[in-house]
Amino acid sequence: MMTPSTFFTRLIPIVAVLWTSACSELTLGTPSFSEVYSTLESAGCADCHSPGASGFLAGAQIDLSTQAQAYFTLTTKTVTGTTSIGSCSGVSIVSAGAPERSYLAAVLIPSFQTDDFADVSGCTPLNTHTEEQYLTSSQQSKVEKWIAGGANND
Ligand code: HEC
Repeated sequence: MMTPSTFFTRLIPIVAVLWTSACSELTLGTPSFSEVYSTLESAGCADCHSPGASGFLAGAQIDLSTQAQAYFTLTTKTVTGTTSIGSCSGVSIVSAGAPERSYLAAVLIPSFQTDDFADVSGCTPLNTHTEEQYLTSSQQSKVEKWIAGGANND
């Protein structure tokens, strides 16, 4: 027969496990770059954003052909596509911690397509991708949360 006190002693580790997993759920609210990259991969971004492909030919320097190149180019480049360069020159593709200053968010998420984007006068982000390369709202929120969470390489 289990005494009430043994019952509670046994309950403590169970409660502890549940508590810890609830907390790690919260930290897991920030998606990893691997998750973001699989989203971009399934959306076919690399078909155009690889050396020699149409995005590259239009002047954009992001290379989404491998996860490592994608991380490197997304987090180090600024806007260079010929349609956007005139007005959005100098805007970062990804500004860690700030989706509202990241051109990647502007290109993929309609609510970020604001005039004078990232306080750059006259910068109106490219709006073709939100129709032609449409991401579902959960995919959009993955990109946004990854940037907001510090754009880590994980
Ligand atoms: C059908 C081809 C095509 C696909 C697919 C595509 N893009 Fe593009 N993208 C382009 C072109 C072309 C440009 C350059 C537009 C310009 O002239 O400024 C561009 C520009 C961009 C830019 C701005 C880069 C810069 O330096 O100006 C980003 C960011 C971007 N694309 C991200 C993506 C992502 C992420 C995906 C997948 C969801 C994607 N693209 C899918 C063709 C494509």
